[in-house]
Amino acid sequence: MKIIQVKNYKELSKKASEIVINQIKIKPNSTIGFATGKTPLGLYKNLVNAYRKKKVNFSKIKAFSLDEFYPVKKTNKKSYNYYLFHNLFSKIDTKKENIILLDGEIKNYKKECRGYEKKIKENPIDLQILGIGENGHIGFNEPGSKLNSKTRLVELTYIKGKGLTMGVSSIMKSKKILLLASGNKKAKAIFGLINGKINKNCPASFLRRHKNIFVIIDKKASSLV
Ligand code: GLP
Repeated sequence: MKIIQVKNYKELSKKASEIVINQIKIKPNSTIGFATGKTPLGLYKNLVNAYRKKKVNFSKIKAFSLDEFYPVKKTNKKSYNYYLFHNLFSKIDTKKENIILLDGEIKNYKKECRGYEKKIKENPIDLQILGIGENGHIGFNEPGSKLNSKTRLVELTYIKGKGLTMGVSSIMKSKKILLLASGNKKAKAIFGLINGKINKNCPASFLRRHKNIFVIIDKKASSLV
């Protein structure tokens, strides 16, 4: 695990965008898994700016999403589909047919999850971007999620409802992982990720077994490690 400590959120976003842009420069047709939440917003802004300045283009990438609420309409502003289009895909040149997101509208969610695993297998993820929940969750893999978990429907604990998420094992198959954490609220989860026991009580702890993971944390998020 490569831990990159930075001063603040601005630096975290800068460093993260350098890693993503570098990945695309090395392999223009990379498959990239995109996370949602507040944490990657600065990264996505930087990617859009770099695209506008013609420093990078996303025309050959394939884009996957990490999770989605269920059921949810794509037009719902709370959906991760909306988030990813609004904050990123509508502002860059990724081809629509190469944007492969978990579908919160679909009736047959089991088929959707199976199909998603198949798509990941066919397009192995070169770089998976991740945030982390305060309780150590990754995607919607809440405490209790096993190392061998696949894409599936889950009950959400911190809000009422359900979600679809890539499983821990689906995430672990990514060739490279980039996890971002900022702020005091994430300090405990970061301790769990870096120093805690590797088990399902802190799903992020499984990532320690990954051979090629970069963790960018700011001062506040790293206060317990
Ligand atoms: C949600 C999302 C995760 C995200 C996490 C942290 O649970 N499903 O994918 O990483 O929240 O979000 P934030 O970055 O807003 O703290």
